[in-house]
Parts: sequence; C-alpha cells; structure tokens
Amino acid sequence: MSTSPLIRLEDVSKIYHLESGDVYALDHVSLDIEENEFVAIMGPSGSGKSTLMNQLGILDVPTTGVLSIEGRDVASMTNLERTHMRRDVIGYIFQKFYLIPLLSAYENVEYPLILKYKKRDTTGRAREYLNAVGIDEAMSAHRPSQLSGGQQQRVAIARALVNEPKILLCDEPTGNLDSKTGRQIMDILVHLHETGKTIILVTHDPKVADYAHRTIQLEDGRVAGS
Ligand SMILES: Nc1ncnc2c1ncn2[C@@H]1O[C@H](COP(=O)(O)OP(=O)(O)OP(=O)(O)O)[C@@H](O)[C@H]1O
Ligand SMILES: [Mg+2]
Repeated sequence: MSTSPLIRLEDVSKIYHLESGDVYALDHVSLDIEENEFVAIMGPSGSGKSTLMNQLGILDVPTTGVLSIEGRDVASMTNLERTHMRRDVIGYIFQKFYLIPLLSAYENVEYPLILKYKKRDTTGRAREYLNAVGIDEAMSAHRPSQLSGGQQQRVAIARALVNEPKILLCDEPTGNLDSKTGRQIMDILVHLHETGKTIILVTHDPKVADYAHRTIQLEDGRVAGS
C-alpha cells in the first residue's frame, strides 16, 4: 500500500492575467513533500517563491493543477474545511512577524487558541510555548513594539506552534534579524524539525538553506533543481 505524501503538487500553475499578457508565477510545478522533511526554497526575486508558499499555506488557490495536503485536494474542500486546515495543520512564520500590535506577547500566542476553542486559554499552553522559545512571563506582558526583532520572531514562532500544526511555512524568517539572532531562530527551527515538524522555508541566504535537507530551486515559476 502506498501512502500519499504530506503535500503534493501536480502540474500546478498560478497565472496572472495582465493586459500585457499572462504571467506564469508558477509554471506547471509538480512536487512532493513528505512528512518531517526540512525543505528550503530558493531562487531569484520574482521566481515564484512567495507564490508557491501562498499555495502551500492555502492563502491562494492554483489556477490549474492539483494541490493535495494530507491526501486531500484543497480545491475540493469547503471554505470551512480550508479554514480549519489553515488553523490546525499549518503554522506561518514571516519575515515581518505580523504580531498584533495592540495585544501583549502572551495574548498574541493565546489568540489562535481562542479562535479554535472560542474561549480564553486555561490549559497553560500559550505560556508553555512562550517558555519553549525563551520568552519569560515578564516579557510576555510586553507589546510587540516593546520587544526586539528576535524576541518578536520568537513570539511569532510560539503563536505558529500553539495549535500544534504539522507543517511550518517560513518565508524569510531570519530576513529582518542580525546573523546571531538569525542563528538562534534557526536553532529553534532545527529543534522543531527534530520533534517531527515538516518545515518549508524560503530564503535568499545559502547559510540558512544549509540547515535544510533538500533545496528546491525555482526559476521563472519552474522547479530548476532539487
Ligand atoms: N498579484 C499579482 N499580479 C500580477 N503578477 C504577480 C502578482 N503577484 C506576483 N506576481 C508575479 O509573479 C511572479 C512571482 O512572484 P513572487 O512574489 O512569487 O516572487 P518571489 O520569488 O517571492 O520574489 P521575491 O524574492 O522578490 O520575494 C513575479 O513575476 C511577480 O511579478
Ligand atoms: Mg517573495
């Protein structure tokens, strides 16, 4: 019996119809990513990296082709099923952190739990994940603007983890950080990979890509090598 990969793209294209003609941001991409892989996505500016991540994160849908996650064709799911998959299966980490400015660090991490369970967290899980990334109780009371970039990214990682997703999508997670802080964030990702997470990471930095076990090279919306 063959089991399907965690993520499968079959002949996926993302086409923008512009007056000047069609732009293939992704051009017939076929790709499998297995559970617990650590994959880097590289390629020049405009090669389709963010477009690919947006498909994987179900933030966008392919124009043609099939994207399956956990063996399910994303296009055939209802909106509610897609929302649940985004909430429960996928964690997002971005270069710009995207923390909610008016909430404390703690409340930012608690927020996905409130979305899921419709009540404040009484399990201590938000606290637990903040501890795991090295944000103590005093720091958790701070708003994002009162934290350093590295601390904000730690909070963002705790927020991405709190609903225990299988997949972590990271778009330039160290792009706004100095190299030492960047290495600390990469150490956290390496540890998460060891605990069984599937990690997909976009980076321009070959040193960051070295942490991954496979690199997918995009060029003009196509997979140029992997
Ligand atoms: N909304 C849009 N409308 C039209 N074209 C778009 C749109 N979004 C992206 N594109 C085009 O799709 C291609 C891929 O863009 P994408 O943002 O995925 O590149 P990228 O590899 O992430 O680049 P970068 O390294 O600069 O972030 C580019 O040619 C871009 O101009
Ligand atoms: Mg991009």
